[in-house]
Amino acid sequence: MSGIVGYLGSRPAVPILVQGLERLEYQGCDSAGIAVIEDNRLVVIKRAGKLAALKSSLNGRMDNARLGIGHTRWATHGRPSDVNAHPHLDCSGNIAVVHNGIIENYQELRHKLINAGHRFASETDTEVVAHLLEHYYEGDLVQAVLKTLPVLRGSYALAVTSSYHPNELVGVGQHSSLIIGLAEGETYLASSIPAFLSYTRDTYILDDGEIASIKPEGVTVYAADGTVKEKEIFHVNWDFEAAEKGGYEHFMLKEIHEQPRALRATLSGRLQKDQVRLESVDLTPAEAAALEKIVIIACGTARHAGMVGKYLIEKYLRLPVEDDVASEFRYRNPILNERTLGLVISQSGETADTLAGLREAQKSGVEILAVTNVLDSTVARLAKHLLYTWAGPEIAIASTKAYVTQAACMYLLALYLAEKRGVAAPWKAEMARGLRALPDYVEETLKLEPRVSDLAGKLAPHEHAFFIGRGLDYAVSLEGALKLKETSYIHAEAFAAGELKHGPIALINEGTPVIALATQTELLEKMISNIKEVRARGAWVLALTQEGNGAVAQEADAVLYLPPVPSWLAPVVTVLPLQLLAYYTAVARGCDVDKPRNLAKSVTVE
Ligand code: M6R
Repeated sequence: MSGIVGYLGSRPAVPILVQGLERLEYQGCDSAGIAVIEDNRLVVIKRAGKLAALKSSLNGRMDNARLGIGHTRWATHGRPSDVNAHPHLDCSGNIAVVHNGIIENYQELRHKLINAGHRFASETDTEVVAHLLEHYYEGDLVQAVLKTLPVLRGSYALAVTSSYHPNELVGVGQHSSLIIGLAEGETYLASSIPAFLSYTRDTYILDDGEIASIKPEGVTVYAADGTVKEKEIFHVNWDFEAAEKGGYEHFMLKEIHEQPRALRATLSGRLQKDQVRLESVDLTPAEAAALEKIVIIACGTARHAGMVGKYLIEKYLRLPVEDDVASEFRYRNPILNERTLGLVISQSGETADTLAGLREAQKSGVEILAVTNVLDSTVARLAKHLLYTWAGPEIAIASTKAYVTQAACMYLLALYLAEKRGVAAPWKAEMARGLRALPDYVEETLKLEPRVSDLAGKLAPHEHAFFIGRGLDYAVSLEGALKLKETSYIHAEAFAAGELKHGPIALINEGTPVIALATQTELLEKMISNIKEVRARGAWVLALTQEGNGAVAQEADAVLYLPPVPSWLAPVVTVLPLQLLAYYTAVARGCDVDKPRNLAKSVTVE
């Protein structure tokens, strides 16, 4: 996730901006930059690499500046480089913009602006904002921003400075946070509170679409229609560590709550009516039609997201999909040829087993389509086609938002392949509709948190727990069990519910916790039978099912009702209570939730 800072006051701005950026660097930084007004001129310095590269370029320069904006970039559009680093400028070099989030319609806007004579320097989506501001500017910066915003689609936070207004900063938040820090004679601006917490605890948190004009005489907040708004001061009581976690106790919980926003980013600009536009996936219809199978190459959580893809692609496209743990794929001498597509899934893009599997597949002429979260990662560099998850950096070792965004990519991919292979079917329109509603379903599901936290209290004293499900529910059971074992150290196993009677049911005795996933309409009766089987042997059953499935609830000891999502979309929703259950159980057991023992975020050894 990129970071934004801004300062207006009477002290030298550069050290304050740099300190703010240092506070945000932990969120990910592949380039950084600042723009300040010095002697009424706009001065911009930006560098690829860690913040240290920017710091050594600054080297005591721009001492006179008392106002400026800064940015740490975590690349989405355009690789990390000096040119793609923020701030971005208009043609005249008088307006500078930094940005978090994604401008969905930037290509269309860029095209129009180029036709109107604007010259672009970078590959970023952000730069269109600077040129739009130039286009609309008629002597008032806030008015230019007010005219620009309706033209932009997407989620974004922006900070703007201009040499035309050497005593003004403008900030905007739209589905991306921007906070104003208020102090005596000074005002701060940042995408996250830690950036200015050592200076002030009084803040205005901008609501969606609000615009803040920061001047020496004070801050004015406008609604999107230009009317002035009265804002209440939010006083921050968190210490620095809590502020880094957005007030949550752990990064894992923060990231669980970031999932609606992460999904909005994943889907943004990619669903156009019933059509899917994947900016860096470029299979021709002939190539797509020639595919005979897909092999999934991934590890851990990423592999579980891949399993969702397998069910979808096989069911809806009738195209065979093998899903493999990358470390096994590599050594099992798989049958591959040029008609195989390698679907590599990796949050970090650096997992050694996944990379080895990818290279192995390439030796047989397999083209790679990678689903990854990190632009310019090794996986991204080796793959021919790229589907970025745009989840933002994930800091907790236990993956949460990585999973839901990878799973969402599986749906996008199913739609994309269907389109390219000329599959005409009603499910496509239904799937596109369901995907659009997905962030709202996820938001709704998070309301289960208090109930899940109570249920975690029941689970915490146990040393074993079992997850069961059928079809897509089985794929999610695997992820639920992984989350529980890695965070709480409870021995958690997932079984295909129909397989229980072939051995695992011997493990069930009085009070054994069984988490039963029952969201697949056509398999509900079978699941109910499996729930009865384990309860008859003394299990304590927690069932997860959609509202309205009363028959499931009747058979379980406890039930968590999910919003009424269609069965095929259930994985992305069902996983949320399982993440929360793992989280609260781990907390109840006193585990180090964000850094479980023996684990690393990116496993770069085989
Ligand atoms: O970065 P990757 O997606 O390639 O990582 C693969 C696994 O190591 C990872 O998904 C791991 O299983 C999760 N962090 C567990 O929560």
